[in-house]
Amino acid sequence: MKKSVVLKTEIPGPKSRALMEQVHQHTPKSVGHGTPLGVAKAQGALLTDLDGNTFIDFAGGIGTLNMGHCPPAVVEAIRSQAEDYLHICFQVVAYPSYVELAAKLNAITPGNHPKKTALFNSGAEAVENAVKIARAYTGRRGIVVFDRAFHGRTMMALSMTGQVKPYKVGFGPFPGDVARISFPYPYRCRCEGGAEGVSLAQLDQLFRCDLPPDQVAAIVMEPVLGEGGFVVPPPTFMPKLRELCNQHGILLIADEVQTGFGRTGKLFAVEHWNVVPDLIITAKSLGGGTPLSAVTGRADIMDALVTGSIGGTYGGNPLACRAALAAIETLEKEGLVERANVLGARMRARLEPLQKQFDCIGEVRGLGAMIGIELVEPATREPASALAAKLLEACLQKGLLMLKSGAGNNVIRTLMPLVISDEQLDEALDIFASCLAEICASVPS
Ligand SMILES: Cc1ncc(COP(=O)(O)O)c(C=O)c1O
Repeated sequence: MKKSVVLKTEIPGPKSRALMEQVHQHTPKSVGHGTPLGVAKAQGALLTDLDGNTFIDFAGGIGTLNMGHCPPAVVEAIRSQAEDYLHICFQVVAYPSYVELAAKLNAITPGNHPKKTALFNSGAEAVENAVKIARAYTGRRGIVVFDRAFHGRTMMALSMTGQVKPYKVGFGPFPGDVARISFPYPYRCRCEGGAEGVSLAQLDQLFRCDLPPDQVAAIVMEPVLGEGGFVVPPPTFMPKLRELCNQHGILLIADEVQTGFGRTGKLFAVEHWNVVPDLIITAKSLGGGTPLSAVTGRADIMDALVTGSIGGTYGGNPLACRAALAAIETLEKEGLVERANVLGARMRARLEPLQKQFDCIGEVRGLGAMIGIELVEPATREPASALAAKLLEACLQKGLLMLKSGAGNNVIRTLMPLVISDEQLDEALDIFASCLAEICASVPS
């Protein structure tokens, strides 16, 4: 079988190194870089750097490329749109693709009630708007979020983000009326009542002591933590939150920026627990590689705001709308949601034996193709961040591009395009396993 990975130079090669020198000269170091590579071309699940080295891409633009790099239908949609008009501003002159995409999102997001969709540019911007919508609709100020959550880099989204380093350092003061409870993290919770019990008890305490539920506009939750380490809550947790929200007139907002569009083996992760959120935030793979985000929700909520109070110059740009329509069509036609389950099962079949073999793997967890591999110090279960960094570097040297996540920077995550072939997946897992064996050889169980 012909391999997908082709390495022609040392990694990084001379052209990537030269680009990175320019990067450091002309762009701020605060932006940060996961790899020292410069890209020349990308297609499907493969990325070729400036030196002609081809990598299997398990980073997928941080979960943006569920439909693959350059899906032909998306490229064609952008090309054809570019010939008609590039930008109009939907608030000045309407165009069909914005409306078609809104109708599509209204149809495919959970819940049979009438829905409406507003389009924006980034996940953070959609988060901001979801909060504005929730507050305006309920007339309440409080927003409840979770520790380890990541909601973006704008000020309100940062206020809602539950990790100081690196996201929030030096940026305060942050917007207020944000309260935080623990995200139920079964692997790291050994408390009585379990992870779910702890989080629900904290919510109860919050309601009793600090923020009465009738002052809470919304609870905002990632159904599976993304940047926070691919943590899956116990299956009863979101349904219980839904019930509590119903009881107190609080909106439940699902941030599906990273989990959406098939990653978890359902179109949206909340479907795993039959939870219907009032508002759902999408971005990343929605745009098929273009900058686009959306807030989709109950029509009565979405319509409760003053006309002109949300929107923006570029939100729902025509290129992005056409790309998104083609991306969703690709997802449906190619059965990529189901494919995520197949990929997940194939990964688990490979990773779970590795967990038994190497006690530096604390847990392999996830839903569908959203798998997290938590690396720990075997004796203490403390996050093994240095080990994770070493493993990622070793994988890169062998042609596999991966990312980590988690507050301890110790959870390797899989965000490969769902169009990856079985052979490519196996090749990537071979690389991962061999690097793990090399690095962890000193700590087998
Ligand atoms: C769950 C979640 N919400 C929001 C965001 C912010 O999205 P963006 O980077 O497009 O602003 C991210 C980005 O990683 C995310 O994972």
